[in-house]
Amino acid sequence: MPNPVRIAPSILSADFARLGEEVRAIDAAGADWIHIDVMDGHFVPNITMGPAIVKAIRPHTTKPFDVHLMISPVDEYLEAFAEAGADTLTVHPEAGPHLHRTIQRIKGLGKRAGVSLNPATPAKMLDYVLEEIDLVLVMSVNPGFGGQSFLTSQLRKIEAIRKAIDKTGKAIDLEVDGGIDQETAALAIAAGADALVAGTATFRGGPGAYAANIAALKAA
Ligand code: DX5
Ligand code: ZN
Repeated sequence: MPNPVRIAPSILSADFARLGEEVRAIDAAGADWIHIDVMDGHFVPNITMGPAIVKAIRPHTTKPFDVHLMISPVDEYLEAFAEAGADTLTVHPEAGPHLHRTIQRIKGLGKRAGVSLNPATPAKMLDYVLEEIDLVLVMSVNPGFGGQSFLTSQLRKIEAIRKAIDKTGKAIDLEVDGGIDQETAALAIAAGADALVAGTATFRGGPGAYAANIAALKAA
């Protein structure tokens, strides 16, 4: 059974010059998790933030930090993100040669482990690791940028992963990332998602609109 739906605003769409304030604002507006998109200009064609930024914003909220690592190699940076204050560390299977080992490393650091699947990556990638992880992150856009359109082709994958999670009997989170708005949130939830990343849809309209934006996604 899915968990209650959690909303994870992606600070990729925040005003980077006022990041601490932005994090406090989405916390007050009802964010459940803070989604932090880490990009290296190599695994994905964009560069964003590193552990120093994670550490700098950590004092601004007590909400869990949902850190999405779009970097390769990834193993040598896990400890730095853990120390900076990450709660969940999510990796892509393509980011290293030994996904199982990477998951064990994350758990060894005392953090929740997540695995993210790109649009072309099949659900069966999870077959032999699902029981070991805390979260699956289905990419409903190609990773790298905010503001892209939701790929409805991913709904079947979400459905398949929901079934696989339910079979484990564990409360593994099923999060969807990319192109989430009120309409696509409803589709993702109907397919079995129980956590939604929302960058554009959270931050549009400025700080005065964040609470209503998050509430609208929760109502979807
Ligand atoms: C894409 C990132 C997403 C992105 C979502 O690579 O992983 O988290 O910020 O942005 P929106 O919600 O604008 O599609
Ligand atoms: Zn993300």
